[in-house]
Amino acid sequence: MKTNEYLTNFYNHYDENSRLVSKHGTVEFLTTMRYIEKYIKSGDRVLEIGAGTGRYSHALARQGYTVDAVELIEHNIDIFRQNTRADEKISVIQGNALDLSAFPDNQYDMTLLLGPLYHLYTKEDKQQAIREAIRVTKQGGIIFAAYVISDGCLLDEGFKRNNINVAAYLRDGLLDSETFAAKSEPKDLFELVRKEDIDDLMGVFPVTRLHYVATDGCALLIRDEIDAMDDETFQLFLQYHFTTCEREDLWGITSHAVDIFQK
Ligand SMILES: C[S@@+](CC[C@H](N)C(=O)[O-])C[C@H]1O[C@@H](n2cnc3c(N)ncnc32)[C@H](O)[C@@H]1O
Repeated sequence: MKTNEYLTNFYNHYDENSRLVSKHGTVEFLTTMRYIEKYIKSGDRVLEIGAGTGRYSHALARQGYTVDAVELIEHNIDIFRQNTRADEKISVIQGNALDLSAFPDNQYDMTLLLGPLYHLYTKEDKQQAIREAIRVTKQGGIIFAAYVISDGCLLDEGFKRNNINVAAYLRDGLLDSETFAAKSEPKDLFELVRKEDIDDLMGVFPVTRLHYVATDGCALLIRDEIDAMDDETFQLFLQYHFTTCEREDLWGITSHAVDIFQK
C-alpha cells in the first residue's frame, strides 16, 4: 500500500469532524486558538495546510478572516465543503503539504500546519513541508507547526489504554529498546517525535521561535476525569493548562505540541 492509501483508508473511516468536540478534545483546539488569536490581525490572510474537515479554517473564516485551505484526503474535503457557510471568505483545494506550488511565495500572514507532520515519516519530508509553509508566508508572518509527541502518546495510548502494545512495539523496532524513541512507517499512520527531534528539524530554518506549547498537556491522559468535570471545574482546569502549557517540565507529557515561529 502507498503512503496516501494508508492515510485515505484511515481518514475515510475516522470521525475527524468530532475529534475535537468532547471536553477533553477541546483542550487542544482552545489552546491553539488562543495562540492564533494572540497573533492574528484584522484583515489577515490565513493558509491552513492539512485542514482536515476545517475546524480551524471555518472558525477563523467565521471571525471574518480570509482563509485558504489545502487538504490531501477527498473525504475530508467533502466534509469541509459541507461545513462551509455562505458568508465565509474561504477556499479549499486538494493538495499535498510537500508541494504547495499552487501558492506563490510570501502570500499569507499566518500559516497553519496542524496535521501533515503527524503523517510524514522522514526528516527530509518534514523539512520539505515546513519549508513550503515558510515559503508561502509573508516576511514577519507567523507559522504554527503541530506534532504528535511520543512520550505523551506512549503513556496514554500505550500504558493507559492499550491501543499501542508497548512490548510488541519494542519487539518490532517501532520503539528503541534503550531510549524508547519512536520510529514509524506509513503503515503505522502516526509519526511520533520528541522535542529534540523538532529542534533538530527546525535548526536549518532562519525563523524565530515564539512559543513551544504542550497543546493538550495531560488532557488525554486524564480524559475521563476531564469529561466528568462540571463547567466550573473545567474552566479552572483550562486556566491551569493555559498557565502551564509552555513549562519545559510539562512538555513530555503532552500528546500534541505546537511550535509557533515567525518568518
Ligand atoms: C489530524 S488531522 C488535523 C486536521 C486539522 N488541521 C485540525 O487540526 O483539526 C491531519 C490532517 O492532515 C492531512 N494530511 C496528512 N498528510 C498531508 C499532506 N501531506 N498534505 C496535506 N494534508 C495532509 C490529513 O488528511 C488530515 O486531514
